[in-house]
Amino acid sequence: MPHTQTQAHTPRLIAVSNRVQVETGVDNANRGGLAVALAAALRQSNGIWFGWSGKQTGEFTGQIAFQRADGVATATIDLEAQDIEEYYNGFANRTLWPLFHYRLDLTEIARDFAGGYARVNERFADTFSPLIAPDDLIWVHDYHLMPLGSHLRKRGFENRIGFFLHIPWPPPSLLMSLPGHRELARGMLDYDVIGFQSEEWRQAFIDYATVQFEATLEGETLRLGERLTRLLVCPIGLDVADFAGAVHSIAARQAETRLVVSAVGRDMIVGVDRLDYSKGLAERFAAYELLLADHPELHEKVSLLQIAPPSRGDVASYRQIREELDALSGRINGAYSSIDWVPIRYVNQGYSRDELFGIYRAARVGLVTPLRDGMNLVAKEYVVAQDPADPGVLVLSRFAGAAAQLPQAVLVNPHAIEDMAEGIARALAMPLAERQERHRAMLETITRRDVRWWSETFMAALAEEPEAALAHSNVADLREAAGAKR
Ligand code: G6P
Repeated sequence: MPHTQTQAHTPRLIAVSNRVQVETGVDNANRGGLAVALAAALRQSNGIWFGWSGKQTGEFTGQIAFQRADGVATATIDLEAQDIEEYYNGFANRTLWPLFHYRLDLTEIARDFAGGYARVNERFADTFSPLIAPDDLIWVHDYHLMPLGSHLRKRGFENRIGFFLHIPWPPPSLLMSLPGHRELARGMLDYDVIGFQSEEWRQAFIDYATVQFEATLEGETLRLGERLTRLLVCPIGLDVADFAGAVHSIAARQAETRLVVSAVGRDMIVGVDRLDYSKGLAERFAAYELLLADHPELHEKVSLLQIAPPSRGDVASYRQIREELDALSGRINGAYSSIDWVPIRYVNQGYSRDELFGIYRAARVGLVTPLRDGMNLVAKEYVVAQDPADPGVLVLSRFAGAAAQLPQAVLVNPHAIEDMAEGIARALAMPLAERQERHRAMLETITRRDVRWWSETFMAALAEEPEAALAHSNVADLREAAGAKR
């Protein structure tokens, strides 16, 4: 692997994640925040992004496809059917995802899943090892690849390796229902830095590691024997400048106009979520139904637009939630619709980022009410898309990582339907001055802690030698910067 002198002072970043999605200008709503966030960090360091192509191959070969799109170099591999079934659909999405979102009832435990997860992580390590140069910084992402750091250490790599968890870390008692939980968590301590979206998830990790491994916490660094692992609260941000730029886009304006015209003077409430049981969509629909039942004066005056592009359709729990929502939206519309009013517009297609900007801007209320969520960037996008002179109101779940950063939202408990219905009513009735004040405060935080802050904060911690981090202890700074002190 070429490793030139000119690069020596700016270590190259190698990012690794399950999905590799570079923006191509043709956006889709399924893309999530990771693609935008990582692309920015990679461009800055002339780095490379390694992961699964999303494609299936007959037999795994380890052949890497190199590409460059939008200034970002990517290296991807195809996986065979059994890998996809056991690793992606299986351990990642039928075991870890529900468990880490506190859904033990949906968590499926199977040896084949665990085996497939280990195998694919080994395949990742074997395949991309030849790309690693001695002073590269390696940044691994999300629950699909938790053991990757350990696999690289076993292959002798001494690079600084960091991991960012985009989803919650569950409390110890939940994690312990997973066979192999010790091995999984122990493997995490092979990373030099672990980034969490919020203090709550970080604390859950500390609670587990200090009890199970007798690791000790020094400042924000966990020590286990010789190994030091820095535990950082580092909430992911938006590419604010880029997203806000959509205010000038024709697609955004067309979407906004279309929505305003179709709403014929009604207040629009909008929700945009990947179709996932963790997003609390059934509870949200039920809260909206209760709002209509309690407030007859709102009939024909409000309308809920729920955009929910289907995801992970090979997993049964996702097919079930889809069926449930079809039935629920149909029932509510059947009960309340009139000849020219449909209370819920439930849309399963995705929209481009620019169109979403317009849709958010046209909505008086943004509903972001997951039952549990690592961060939730839709909350931040909704705020950024508002007109500061006449902003809409964000109704946000207390159990989204975003709530720690955005206390000025109308915070609700998504399990308490009445609480949520009341929150929506409050948002609809909120006076202009209060809306402006809340919006200003949230926009300020979102702008200050944007995606560049996120990647720079993580990369700075990753680049720093662990002993140095202990010595000058910038714990307080980083925690304050991450909003953990609120
Ligand atoms: C969440 C996860 C990401 C994942 C995304 C989309 O945001 O944290 O790692 O890529 O969902 O899910 P998918 O299964 O389609 O990649």
